[in-house]
Amino acid sequence: MNNSQAYAKQLDAQDPLRSFREEFIIPTVNDTEQVYFLGNSLGLQPKRTAGYVDRVLKQWARYGVEAFFMGDDPWLDYHDHLILPLSGIVGALPSELTVMNQLTVNLHLMMVSFYRPSGRRKKIICEAKAFPSDQYMLETHVKHLGLSPEDIIIEVSPHEGEYLIRHDDIISAIESCGDELALVLWGGVNYYTGQVFDMAAITRAAHGVGALAGFDLAHAAGNIELRLHTWNVDFACWCSYKYLNSGPGAMGAAYIHERYHKNPSIPRLAGWWGYEKSTRFKMEKGFIPAGSAEGWQLSTPSPILYAAHRASLEIFAEAGFERLIQKGQQMSSYLLFLLHQLQSRPGTRRIEILTPGNTPEKGCQVSLLIPVHGKRVFEQLTEAGFFADWREPDVIRVAPVPLYNRYEEIWKFVSVIETALAALPDSQ
Ligand SMILES: Cc1ncc(COP(=O)(O)O)c(C=O)c1O
Repeated sequence: MNNSQAYAKQLDAQDPLRSFREEFIIPTVNDTEQVYFLGNSLGLQPKRTAGYVDRVLKQWARYGVEAFFMGDDPWLDYHDHLILPLSGIVGALPSELTVMNQLTVNLHLMMVSFYRPSGRRKKIICEAKAFPSDQYMLETHVKHLGLSPEDIIIEVSPHEGEYLIRHDDIISAIESCGDELALVLWGGVNYYTGQVFDMAAITRAAHGVGALAGFDLAHAAGNIELRLHTWNVDFACWCSYKYLNSGPGAMGAAYIHERYHKNPSIPRLAGWWGYEKSTRFKMEKGFIPAGSAEGWQLSTPSPILYAAHRASLEIFAEAGFERLIQKGQQMSSYLLFLLHQLQSRPGTRRIEILTPGNTPEKGCQVSLLIPVHGKRVFEQLTEAGFFADWREPDVIRVAPVPLYNRYEEIWKFVSVIETALAALPDSQ
């Protein structure tokens, strides 16, 4: 690697996935394309989404409610179009997946089934500073069961002065909790630092003490390689508006290991959409769940939202998920390389990189901390046409994503930071 613009252009020219950018609507200002590094927040809109949604609307117009059963794509079976591409992305059996609701709702539903405190076994281990919704979910869920969050929830934190959580600390927290541990609920990728966790090892450790392991994959799905079934993960939930580009408020999804599908001792909250599909419309008394993850569905899903999800998943299938992961890793490695070069230049003001440098511990996202005048640097990035994310008091998060970002955009990003740092007032 080198730090010339020509090298970045060369990487783009050689990129076998470069044409996929054409599949997306890139935001523009005065006809100038902006640099969108926020695929970790809300992925860009695929050009084909409007057509897919329009087909659903036309079907609604033509058939009314009969569109559930008629037309080119009957809505009753629409879910099937989503499951195959998703199973490749998260490494699950198709029967282990369902697209439903949204992320926080699904986490609550999974807690109903998989957090069953009894006797000594009541504790939950989670990451300190998990995304707030996860914290609120855990806290209120535990209270709702008549337990006290302070007694139940154990947070594993980074060491003093560090940003990343040490893997060994997670495993030893699990082991020392032993037979008091009911559940590990962890993020696949930390939303703040971009740290990727070893989900296979966390699951093994949880099972080793007789507990279950569930994951929030909001920042992992569509970003990193996942092998949920092989890792023996009990359950996982994610949203599809980030790396999966399925639009604001897009549907969430859940993975539930097949060993639970037909186990009547697993409690669940039910609704008619989770009823065994072939007899659902008989509308009979007594809930009989579908014998797959679909048995956790509650409400009638929106085919409009399904359609937006399908449009994006098809692009993933066309690009090939393995190739996308590889390119995503190369992009974040290239960004880290340029930032390290910048850090080592004499006279450069201090920047710290929060994201781990090694491939299994990072995905697309890179988080950097600029302790003095960081906000000014961020404002200059915004003025220069970069969509990045500012987290108070001093962190900039960016995620160059393989489907629509270019290496040259990464190069420009670092050169704007360099110029902005050089122009800062002297106070360090
Ligand atoms: C890690 C994580 N968990 C949970 C959520 C909340 O998701 P939702 O609003 O779809 O419930 C988010 C949203 O960004 C997130 O990043």
